[in-house]
Amino acid sequence: MGSLKMIEHPLRKSLIDWYDKEKRDLPWRKTNDPWLILLSEVILQQTQVSRGIEYWKKISNRFPTPKALSAADQEELLTLWQGAGYYARARRLHALAVQVSKPFNEGGFDGSIPDSIEQLLQLPGIGAYTAAAVASIAFNRPVGVVDGNVRRVAARQTGNPNPAQDSVRTWSNSMLIPGRPGDSNQAMMDLGAVICKPKAPKCELCPIINTCEGKADPSAYPAPVKRKKSIENFDAAVLLDSVGWPRLIKREKTERFGGMWGPPMSNISTDGLISVGQIVHQLTHRELRVEVWKGQCSKGVDPSSVPMSNLDRKILEIAGAM
Ligand code: ADE
Repeated sequence: MGSLKMIEHPLRKSLIDWYDKEKRDLPWRKTNDPWLILLSEVILQQTQVSRGIEYWKKISNRFPTPKALSAADQEELLTLWQGAGYYARARRLHALAVQVSKPFNEGGFDGSIPDSIEQLLQLPGIGAYTAAAVASIAFNRPVGVVDGNVRRVAARQTGNPNPAQDSVRTWSNSMLIPGRPGDSNQAMMDLGAVICKPKAPKCELCPIINTCEGKADPSAYPAPVKRKKSIENFDAAVLLDSVGWPRLIKREKTERFGGMWGPPMSNISTDGLISVGQIVHQLTHRELRVEVWKGQCSKGVDPSSVPMSNLDRKILEIAGAM
Protein backbone atom coordinates (compact mmCIF):
# COMPACT_ATOMS: atom_id res chain seq x y z
CA MET A 1 0.00 0.00 0.00
CA GLY A 2 1.26 3.45 -0.69
CA SER A 3 0.03 6.96 -1.17
CA LEU A 4 -0.61 8.33 -4.61
CA LYS A 5 0.96 11.30 -6.24
CA MET A 6 -1.05 14.49 -6.45
CA ILE A 7 -2.44 15.37 -9.77
CA GLU A 8 -1.85 18.43 -11.89
CA HIS A 9 -4.73 20.57 -13.10
CA PRO A 10 -4.26 19.81 -16.83
CA LEU A 11 -5.13 16.21 -16.10
CA ARG A 12 -8.56 16.83 -14.66
CA LYS A 13 -9.20 19.40 -17.37
CA SER A 14 -8.42 16.79 -20.07
CA LEU A 15 -10.81 14.39 -18.38
CA ILE A 16 -13.73 16.81 -18.15
CA ASP A 17 -13.20 18.02 -21.74
CA TRP A 18 -13.39 14.42 -22.88
CA TYR A 19 -16.55 13.91 -20.82
CA ASP A 20 -18.19 16.99 -22.28
CA LYS A 21 -17.69 15.51 -25.76
CA GLU A 22 -18.11 11.81 -25.13
CA LYS A 23 -20.34 11.37 -22.12
CA ARG A 24 -22.83 8.53 -22.26
CA ASP A 25 -26.40 9.52 -22.88
CA LEU A 26 -28.01 8.19 -19.70
CA PRO A 27 -31.55 9.14 -18.66
CA TRP A 28 -30.67 10.12 -15.07
CA ARG A 29 -28.23 12.67 -16.46
CA LYS A 30 -31.18 14.66 -17.77
CA THR A 31 -32.65 15.33 -14.33
CA ASN A 32 -31.46 17.17 -11.27
CA ASP A 33 -34.10 15.67 -9.00
CA PRO A 34 -32.14 14.21 -6.05
CA TRP A 35 -34.58 11.32 -5.60
CA LEU A 36 -34.23 10.21 -9.22
CA ILE A 37 -30.45 10.53 -8.99
CA LEU A 38 -30.38 8.55 -5.76
CA LEU A 39 -32.53 5.89 -7.41
CA SER A 40 -30.04 5.59 -10.28
CA GLU A 41 -27.12 5.22 -7.90
CA VAL A 42 -28.85 2.50 -5.86
CA ILE A 43 -29.66 0.57 -9.04
CA LEU A 44 -26.09 0.99 -10.33
CA GLN A 45 -24.59 -0.30 -7.08
CA GLN A 46 -24.86 -3.82 -8.45
CA THR A 47 -26.44 -3.63 -11.89
CA GLN A 48 -24.65 -2.73 -15.11
CA VAL A 49 -25.53 0.61 -16.67
CA SER A 50 -26.95 -1.03 -19.82
CA ARG A 51 -29.41 -3.11 -17.78
CA GLY A 52 -29.99 -0.43 -15.17
CA ILE A 53 -31.59 1.98 -17.64
CA GLU A 54 -34.84 0.00 -18.02
CA TYR A 55 -35.14 -0.53 -14.26
CA TRP A 56 -34.57 3.16 -13.60
CA LYS A 57 -37.22 4.13 -16.16
CA LYS A 58 -39.95 1.89 -14.86
CA ILE A 59 -39.25 2.50 -11.16
CA SER A 60 -38.97 6.27 -11.53
CA ASN A 61 -42.18 6.30 -13.55
CA ARG A 62 -44.11 4.39 -10.95
CA PHE A 63 -42.46 6.09 -7.95
CA PRO A 64 -41.52 9.64 -8.98
CA THR A 65 -41.09 10.76 -5.35
CA PRO A 66 -40.01 9.17 -2.07
CA LYS A 67 -43.56 9.69 -0.79
CA ALA A 68 -45.00 7.72 -3.71
CA LEU A 69 -42.74 4.80 -2.84
CA SER A 70 -43.32 5.07 0.90
CA ALA A 71 -47.08 4.82 0.31
CA ALA A 72 -46.69 1.60 -1.68
CA ASP A 73 -46.12 -1.94 -0.54
CA GLN A 74 -42.51 -3.13 -0.55
CA GLU A 75 -43.69 -6.03 -2.69
CA GLU A 76 -44.68 -3.71 -5.51
CA LEU A 77 -41.12 -2.41 -5.66
CA LEU A 78 -39.75 -5.96 -5.53
CA THR A 79 -41.94 -6.84 -8.50
CA LEU A 80 -40.44 -3.98 -10.51
CA TRP A 81 -36.98 -5.02 -9.30
CA GLN A 82 -37.39 -8.62 -10.52
CA GLY A 83 -34.41 -9.84 -12.50
CA ALA A 84 -32.01 -7.13 -11.30
CA GLY A 85 -30.76 -9.23 -8.37
CA TYR A 86 -29.48 -8.16 -4.96
CA TYR A 87 -33.01 -7.62 -3.72
CA ALA A 88 -31.89 -6.30 -0.32
CA ARG A 89 -31.23 -3.06 -2.22
CA ALA A 90 -34.92 -2.77 -3.05
CA ARG A 91 -35.98 -3.48 0.53
CA ARG A 92 -33.57 -0.84 1.83
CA LEU A 93 -34.70 1.65 -0.80
CA HIS A 94 -38.27 1.21 0.39
CA ALA A 95 -37.12 1.75 3.99
CA LEU A 96 -35.23 4.86 2.86
CA ALA A 97 -38.36 6.24 1.21
CA VAL A 98 -40.37 5.61 4.37
CA GLN A 99 -37.72 7.31 6.49
CA VAL A 100 -37.24 10.45 4.40
CA SER A 101 -41.02 10.80 3.97
CA LYS A 102 -41.55 11.28 7.70
CA PRO A 103 -42.04 14.84 8.90
CA PHE A 104 -39.00 16.72 10.22
CA ASN A 105 -40.21 16.47 13.80
CA GLU A 106 -40.20 12.67 13.49
CA GLY A 107 -36.65 12.47 12.18
CA GLY A 108 -37.55 12.50 8.48
CA PHE A 109 -37.08 15.07 5.72
CA ASP A 110 -40.72 15.58 4.76
CA GLY A 111 -40.24 13.70 1.49
CA SER A 112 -37.00 15.21 0.27
CA ILE A 113 -33.49 13.77 0.05
CA PRO A 114 -31.02 15.37 2.49
CA ASP A 115 -28.06 17.15 0.94
CA SER A 116 -25.14 16.41 3.26
CA ILE A 117 -22.90 13.36 3.26
CA GLU A 118 -23.50 12.82 6.99
CA GLN A 119 -27.29 12.78 6.61
CA LEU A 120 -27.16 10.62 3.48
CA LEU A 121 -24.97 8.08 5.28
CA GLN A 122 -27.66 7.68 7.94
CA LEU A 123 -30.16 6.40 5.39
CA PRO A 124 -30.80 2.68 4.72
CA GLY A 125 -28.72 1.28 1.87
CA ILE A 126 -26.52 4.34 1.47
CA GLY A 127 -22.79 3.74 1.92
CA ALA A 128 -19.79 5.97 1.27
CA TYR A 129 -19.91 5.50 -2.50
CA THR A 130 -23.60 6.26 -2.96
CA ALA A 131 -23.52 9.17 -0.50
CA ALA A 132 -20.63 10.77 -2.42
CA ALA A 133 -22.29 10.16 -5.78
CA VAL A 134 -25.64 11.67 -4.68
CA ALA A 135 -24.07 14.59 -2.79
CA SER A 136 -21.88 15.53 -5.75
CA ILE A 137 -24.30 14.89 -8.63
CA ALA A 138 -27.52 16.16 -7.03
CA PHE A 139 -26.16 18.79 -4.62
CA ASN A 140 -22.83 19.91 -6.07
CA ARG A 141 -20.91 18.88 -2.97
CA PRO A 142 -17.17 18.51 -3.67
CA VAL A 143 -16.67 14.85 -2.73
CA GLY A 144 -14.88 12.39 -4.97
CA VAL A 145 -16.37 8.92 -5.35
CA VAL A 146 -14.33 5.83 -4.63
CA ASP A 147 -15.23 2.50 -6.12
CA GLY A 148 -13.48 -0.27 -8.02
CA ASN A 149 -13.43 1.78 -11.23
CA VAL A 150 -11.86 4.82 -9.62
CA ARG A 151 -9.34 2.64 -7.82
CA ARG A 152 -8.31 1.02 -11.10
CA VAL A 153 -7.89 4.36 -12.90
CA ALA A 154 -5.90 5.73 -9.93
CA ALA A 155 -3.68 2.65 -9.77
CA ARG A 156 -2.88 2.86 -13.48
CA GLN A 157 -2.40 6.62 -13.61
CA THR A 158 0.03 6.61 -10.72
CA GLY A 159 1.63 3.24 -11.37
CA ASN A 160 0.72 1.96 -7.91
CA PRO A 161 -0.53 -1.62 -8.00
CA ASN A 162 -1.90 -1.47 -4.46
CA PRO A 163 -3.25 1.97 -3.61
CA ALA A 164 -4.75 2.27 -0.14
CA GLN A 165 -8.38 3.34 0.13
CA ASP A 166 -7.49 6.69 1.70
CA SER A 167 -5.06 7.58 -1.02
CA VAL A 168 -7.61 6.70 -3.71
CA ARG A 169 -10.04 9.01 -1.93
CA THR A 170 -7.48 11.82 -1.87
CA TRP A 171 -6.69 11.22 -5.53
CA SER A 172 -10.37 11.16 -6.46
CA ASN A 173 -10.94 14.45 -4.60
CA SER A 174 -7.98 15.97 -6.43
CA MET A 175 -9.63 15.15 -9.76
CA LEU A 176 -12.72 17.27 -9.04
CA ILE A 177 -13.17 20.37 -11.17
CA PRO A 178 -14.24 23.22 -8.87
CA GLY A 179 -17.96 23.88 -9.36
CA ARG A 180 -18.51 20.62 -11.28
CA PRO A 181 -18.00 17.79 -8.79
CA GLY A 182 -20.88 15.66 -10.12
CA ASP A 183 -19.66 15.84 -13.71
CA SER A 184 -16.08 15.20 -12.57
CA ASN A 185 -17.18 12.04 -10.77
CA GLN A 186 -19.27 10.89 -13.69
CA ALA A 187 -16.36 11.58 -16.05
CA MET A 188 -14.27 9.21 -13.94
CA MET A 189 -17.07 6.61 -13.98
CA ASP A 190 -17.37 6.81 -17.76
CA LEU A 191 -13.61 6.61 -18.21
CA GLY A 192 -13.47 3.49 -16.02
CA ALA A 193 -16.42 1.87 -17.79
CA VAL A 194 -15.68 2.74 -21.42
CA ILE A 195 -11.91 3.32 -21.73
CA CYS A 196 -9.93 2.26 -18.67
CA LYS A 197 -11.67 -1.11 -18.47
CA PRO A 198 -10.39 -4.01 -16.36
CA LYS A 199 -9.67 -6.08 -19.49
CA ALA A 200 -8.62 -4.76 -22.89
CA PRO A 201 -8.59 -1.05 -21.98
CA LYS A 202 -8.81 1.32 -24.93
CA CYS A 203 -5.66 3.26 -24.15
CA GLU A 204 -5.53 4.71 -27.68
CA LEU A 205 -8.74 6.65 -26.90
CA CYS A 206 -7.80 7.70 -23.38
CA PRO A 207 -7.83 11.46 -22.72
CA ILE A 208 -5.29 11.10 -19.91
CA ILE A 209 -2.88 8.60 -21.44
CA ASN A 210 0.05 11.05 -21.29
CA THR A 211 0.21 10.94 -17.52
CA CYS A 212 -0.53 7.21 -17.23
CA GLU A 213 2.27 5.30 -15.57
CA GLY A 214 0.57 1.95 -16.02
CA LYS A 215 -0.02 2.11 -19.76
CA ALA A 216 2.74 -0.38 -20.63
CA ASP A 217 1.01 -3.10 -18.61
CA PRO A 218 -2.49 -2.04 -17.54
CA SER A 219 -3.42 -5.53 -16.38
CA ALA A 220 -0.89 -5.21 -13.54
CA TYR A 221 -2.87 -2.29 -12.04
CA PRO A 222 -4.38 -2.82 -9.59
CA ALA A 223 -2.64 -6.07 -8.65
CA PRO A 224 -5.16 -8.86 -9.18
CA VAL A 225 -6.50 -10.45 -6.00
CA LYS A 226 -7.40 -14.08 -6.36
CA ARG A 227 -10.46 -14.58 -4.23
CA LYS A 228 -11.84 -18.04 -4.08
CA LYS A 229 -15.59 -18.13 -4.47
CA SER A 230 -17.39 -19.80 -1.62
CA ILE A 231 -19.81 -22.51 -2.63
CA GLU A 232 -23.19 -22.80 -0.93
CA ASN A 233 -25.40 -25.83 -1.41
CA PHE A 234 -29.20 -25.78 -1.22
CA ASP A 235 -32.13 -28.05 -1.88
CA ALA A 236 -35.28 -26.62 -3.43
CA ALA A 237 -38.62 -28.43 -3.20
CA VAL A 238 -40.90 -27.75 -6.14
CA LEU A 239 -44.30 -29.19 -5.24
CA LEU A 240 -46.79 -28.94 -8.07
CA ASP A 241 -50.59 -29.03 -7.92
CA SER A 242 -52.83 -30.61 -10.53
CA VAL A 243 -52.55 -27.64 -12.93
CA GLY A 244 -48.77 -27.41 -12.54
CA TRP A 245 -48.63 -24.44 -10.17
CA PRO A 246 -45.94 -24.75 -7.47
CA ARG A 247 -46.25 -24.22 -3.77
CA LEU A 248 -44.51 -20.87 -3.16
CA ILE A 249 -43.56 -19.08 0.01
CA LYS A 250 -42.52 -15.53 0.66
CA ARG A 251 -38.92 -15.66 1.84
CA GLU A 252 -38.09 -14.25 5.25
CA LYS A 253 -36.29 -10.90 5.45
CA THR A 254 -33.28 -12.61 7.01
CA GLU A 255 -32.91 -15.16 4.19
CA ARG A 256 -31.35 -14.83 0.77
CA PHE A 257 -33.88 -13.20 -1.61
CA GLY A 258 -35.83 -11.88 1.41
CA GLY A 259 -39.24 -10.49 0.49
CA MET A 260 -39.21 -12.36 -2.82
CA TRP A 261 -41.27 -15.49 -3.42
CA GLY A 262 -40.01 -18.93 -4.39
CA PRO A 263 -40.21 -22.66 -3.70
CA PRO A 264 -39.18 -23.73 -0.17
CA MET A 265 -35.38 -23.91 0.07
CA SER A 266 -34.55 -24.11 3.75
CA ASN A 267 -35.28 -26.84 6.28
CA ILE A 268 -36.93 -29.02 3.70
CA SER A 269 -37.18 -32.78 3.69
CA THR A 270 -36.54 -34.40 0.33
CA ASP A 271 -38.15 -37.70 1.39
CA GLY A 272 -40.49 -38.90 -1.33
CA LEU A 273 -39.33 -36.25 -3.82
CA ILE A 274 -37.47 -36.88 -7.07
CA SER A 275 -34.33 -35.01 -8.04
CA VAL A 276 -34.69 -33.26 -11.41
CA GLY A 277 -31.26 -31.66 -11.63
CA GLN A 278 -28.91 -29.05 -10.26
CA ILE A 279 -28.68 -25.33 -11.00
CA VAL A 280 -25.45 -23.45 -10.51
CA HIS A 281 -25.94 -19.71 -10.01
CA GLN A 282 -22.95 -17.36 -10.03
CA LEU A 283 -22.85 -14.32 -7.78
CA THR A 284 -19.87 -12.01 -7.53
CA HIS A 285 -18.22 -13.74 -4.58
CA ARG A 286 -20.32 -16.85 -4.22
CA GLU A 287 -21.55 -19.80 -6.17
CA LEU A 288 -24.97 -21.17 -5.27
CA ARG A 289 -25.66 -24.80 -6.14
CA VAL A 290 -29.29 -25.76 -5.93
CA GLU A 291 -30.44 -29.35 -6.14
CA VAL A 292 -34.00 -29.21 -7.44
CA TRP A 293 -36.54 -31.73 -6.15
CA LYS A 294 -40.02 -32.30 -7.48
CA GLY A 295 -43.17 -33.57 -5.80
CA GLN A 296 -46.87 -32.87 -5.46
CA CYS A 297 -49.06 -30.56 -3.44
CA SER A 298 -52.78 -29.91 -3.25
CA LYS A 299 -52.76 -26.21 -4.15
CA GLY A 300 -50.03 -24.05 -5.70
CA VAL A 301 -49.67 -20.37 -6.60
CA ASP A 302 -49.59 -18.76 -10.04
CA PRO A 303 -45.85 -17.92 -10.37
CA SER A 304 -46.57 -14.90 -12.56
CA SER A 305 -48.51 -13.24 -9.72
CA VAL A 306 -45.60 -12.77 -7.28
CA PRO A 307 -42.09 -11.22 -7.38
CA MET A 308 -39.41 -13.85 -7.88
CA SER A 309 -35.67 -13.92 -8.54
CA ASN A 310 -34.28 -15.24 -11.82
CA LEU A 311 -32.77 -18.15 -9.92
CA ASP A 312 -36.19 -19.14 -8.56
CA ARG A 313 -37.71 -18.93 -12.02
CA LYS A 314 -34.99 -21.25 -13.34
CA ILE A 315 -35.67 -23.67 -10.49
CA LEU A 316 -39.39 -23.78 -11.35
CA GLU A 317 -38.59 -24.20 -15.02
CA ILE A 318 -36.44 -27.30 -14.66
CA ALA A 319 -39.10 -28.86 -12.42
CA GLY A 320 -41.69 -28.24 -15.15
CA ALA A 321 -43.88 -25.76 -13.24
CA MET A 322 -46.37 -23.78 -15.33
N1 ADE B 1 -22.18 4.09 -12.16
C1 ADE B 1 -22.64 4.49 -10.98
N2 ADE B 1 -23.17 5.71 -11.05
C2 ADE B 1 -23.05 6.11 -12.32
C3 ADE B 1 -23.40 7.28 -13.02
N3 ADE B 1 -24.00 8.27 -12.43
N4 ADE B 1 -23.11 7.33 -14.32
C4 ADE B 1 -22.50 6.29 -14.91
N5 ADE B 1 -22.13 5.18 -14.33
C5 ADE B 1 -22.41 5.08 -13.02
